[in-house]
Amino acid sequence: MKFAVFASGFGSNLQAIIDAVKNGEISAELALVFSNSRKAHALKRAEEAGIPTLCLEAKDYLTPQSYDRDIVIYLKEHDIDFVVLAGYMKLLTPFFVKEFPDKVINIHPSLLPSFKGIEGIKDAFTYGAKVTGVTVHFVDDKMDHGPIIMQEALDVKEGEPLESLEARIHAIEHKMYPRAIQLFVKGKLKIQGRKVLVLEK
Ligand code: GAR
Repeated sequence: MKFAVFASGFGSNLQAIIDAVKNGEISAELALVFSNSRKAHALKRAEEAGIPTLCLEAKDYLTPQSYDRDIVIYLKEHDIDFVVLAGYMKLLTPFFVKEFPDKVINIHPSLLPSFKGIEGIKDAFTYGAKVTGVTVHFVDDKMDHGPIIMQEALDVKEGEPLESLEARIHAIEHKMYPRAIQLFVKGKLKIQGRKVLVLEK
């Protein structure tokens, strides 16, 4: 199986995935790293790991669909079986989701459906949540919305600075995402409506 990681920024989750592929925790080929931003540090990480990269910027396209169409053409030409979003801060169009049905996974740094969007950690922190966490889910055409594969909660410590909470959440993400991806690769995830059955751990 071949997969692509989509990332817009720093790429720490991408790095965890690269490492997990290298050490056999994920038994699929990471064949492409795609970014919507030339500035994404994730692209450097991919280049350092010898993984092919592609970057397309939305400003060069007239519509979100024409942008996603070019990505889909590239993915199909390169026999990509599934897509992993790792800090990809751009909503996929319904067109894209239809072309890869139940084959796109996302990670989000909160307990969905709370604190969707691009600032999940900060929003939970500012709101005063006592418990927050991480969610891995299948992607549909609404933001941070599809069926949930895995969640892990953590307590926000009294007086804890935001940076400490961010670090603890990222540490959870870096362990959890490779595990969830491997369950998908092994065909252990069965979607039933909004629920995802994990067939075997
Ligand atoms: C991660 O915390 C990821 O969960 C989040 O972006 C961060 C990317 O960090 N994604 C979302 O908020 C999606 N709505 P990274 O570039 O270091 O992996």
